Amino acid sequence: MKKFIKKIFGHKKSSNKPIEKAGLFPGNFVHETAILNNPQFIQMGTNCWIGGFTCLYANPPGMVIGNNVIFADHVTVVNNFHNYKSSDMLPFDYRAIARPVQIGDNVWIGMNSIILPGVKIEEGAIVAAGSVVTKSVPKCAIVAGNPARIVKYRDIRKYNSLVKNKKYIDVFFQNNTPEMIIKNKFNPFLSNKQ
Ligand SMILES: CC(C)(COP(=O)(O)OP(=O)(O)OC[C@H]1O[C@@H](n2cnc3c(N)ncnc32)[C@H](O)[C@@H]1OP(=O)(O)O)[C@@H](O)C(=O)NCCC(=O)NCCS
Repeated sequence: MKKFIKKIFGHKKSSNKPIEKAGLFPGNFVHETAILNNPQFIQMGTNCWIGGFTCLYANPPGMVIGNNVIFADHVTVVNNFHNYKSSDMLPFDYRAIARPVQIGDNVWIGMNSIILPGVKIEEGAIVAAGSVVTKSVPKCAIVAGNPARIVKYRDIRKYNSLVKNKKYIDVFFQNNTPEMIIKNKFNPFLSNKQ
């Protein structure tokens, strides 16, 4: 067990093997079908929801995810490209060009969205279902489409008031049946909540 934990968190060494694992991030809901590639390069806050079939493809320098972030199902976040511009090979060479992805507190990312390398999604933003986010998203903006564009904003005053009063959903409470909880082998944090 110790060996396993060291392997996952101890070495800052990249591996291309996707890791499909529930419960890697205590205090967060990670669906059993979520794919976390190189979780040692993913920094995640608490009370986040990683939905079914959502893929977080991390490479150095990694991705930073805040608190209370909701990734719906089938979301993809990727932080690296391949070098094709100065490549002597096709379609690209072996150099990875990684750009950090940052996702702020209380962000909601709708189903089937794709977040591309270098994107910073500021706190309170919402990414509509099926969006492809190529550029950074300001605080409380709601973006939609491919490429994603701002369609409107949350009520920022209300948002700030909810933050001030710490009014957050509890991802372990929301619609979770006991069966899901058992199936996902949640961490001990959960057993207090059942
Ligand atoms: C982002 C979202 C919450 C906005 O909902 P809303 O406040 O009711 O937004 P509206 O329906 O008023 O849409 C505002 C505009 O954005 C457009 N829009 C909304 N969602 C869009 C989408 N997914 N893709 C493209 N455009 C979209 C609307 O057509 C509308 O455009 P218009 O002003 O030209 O008519 C909702 O569209 C969404 O995508 N929710 C995510 C659903 C999901 O993934 N659920 C999984 C469970 S976590």
